[in-house]
Amino acid sequence: MNELNLNTLIALLDTEDITSLKAKLKNLFGGEVLKKQNGKIKIITNGDLHFVNPDYLLGEINQILETRTIERSRYYLKRLIKSLTEIKTSNLNDLNLNRWKEYDDIITDSLWIVDKRDKSGAHKGDYWGNFIPQIPNQFLRRYTKKGEWVLDPFAGSGTTLIECKRLERNCIGIELNDEVVRLAKKNIAKEKTKSNSVVRVVKGNSAEIDVKAELGKENIKSVQFILMHPPYWDIIKFSKKKNDLSNAKSVAEFLKMFGAVLDNTVKFLEKGRYLAVVIGDKYSDGEWVPLGFYVMEEVKNRGLKLKSTIVKNFDTTKGKMNQKELWRYRALAGGFYIFKHEYIFLFQKPAK
Ligand SMILES: C[S@@+](CC[C@H](N)C(=O)[O-])C[C@H]1O[C@@H](n2cnc3c(N)ncnc32)[C@H](O)[C@@H]1O
Repeated sequence: MNELNLNTLIALLDTEDITSLKAKLKNLFGGEVLKKQNGKIKIITNGDLHFVNPDYLLGEINQILETRTIERSRYYLKRLIKSLTEIKTSNLNDLNLNRWKEYDDIITDSLWIVDKRDKSGAHKGDYWGNFIPQIPNQFLRRYTKKGEWVLDPFAGSGTTLIECKRLERNCIGIELNDEVVRLAKKNIAKEKTKSNSVVRVVKGNSAEIDVKAELGKENIKSVQFILMHPPYWDIIKFSKKKNDLSNAKSVAEFLKMFGAVLDNTVKFLEKGRYLAVVIGDKYSDGEWVPLGFYVMEEVKNRGLKLKSTIVKNFDTTKGKMNQKELWRYRALAGGFYIFKHEYIFLFQKPAK
């Protein structure tokens, strides 16, 4: 592994002219830093150590090498030194904004094309109707800090809880169906990441469960993030239970049930913090039913601020994959489009 002593970089600030500065920079690691490096680079700062992504360092050094004046080079050099020594975070997450260029896997665009499901560790992806782990992963890293609390009122197979365990966030998941609760518990136990976080699935109806009491068991009064992945009305029937949102008899009833879950949970979201709802539309009697937009309105009507509408691709389900050609024919003949996207609506609870 390569090492870089921060004092070497600081000393470069005294270089008088740009040509020698560039020559010295090229000589860091005997010129090796300019080639792609595997693994992390060890940064030594007055005895302390930390590690930095080589691509990031390479990018910063190349930027200095492209400058034409000594003043500009010093400016970039100072910025690099600052990024290696000072941590700048917001009150929403643990991302070090002084090294924002290192987070190239965090999506900041509103169009999410995710080709491959994360199937690592306990993420098996075999619960019909689950979401890809990348969804909670992205939101937990952007909207929570380590040790904070997350609520998932439609916990399903436990995808959010597994991600919380990995990222050292705490989570309470609520799930209506006994067997699904058992499945989630099994999945969570399979996740071998060492973690001090508390992740707990509770059986219950999210519209009625005593959330205050559940939070009380953990000695907390509020959560810092809520992630909701309700049934997309009746596209998948999750159970025969009356209070299962997938058994709503009409869109109006579905929205009423979803609204009841909002009323029972959002009051426990800390002010100024975020809620994300993952939902798709459906087709019924030859008509596109914009469930996503209806659900968005339900949340907005409760005073939350819409921060983003994210459009995410999804894979054709296994069943439909075999009938791909048939669906294409039907679409061409019937004048409709095949669902290939779903929505993630992101909201913020007002600070006051
Ligand atoms: C779309 S799935 C969520 C999947 C989950 N994100 C995952 O990755 O496994 C919706 C879940 O909500 C549950 N559900 C439906 N109505 C509910 C209610 N009233 N309270 C709690 N859970 C409910 C269903 O049993 C189902 O597991």
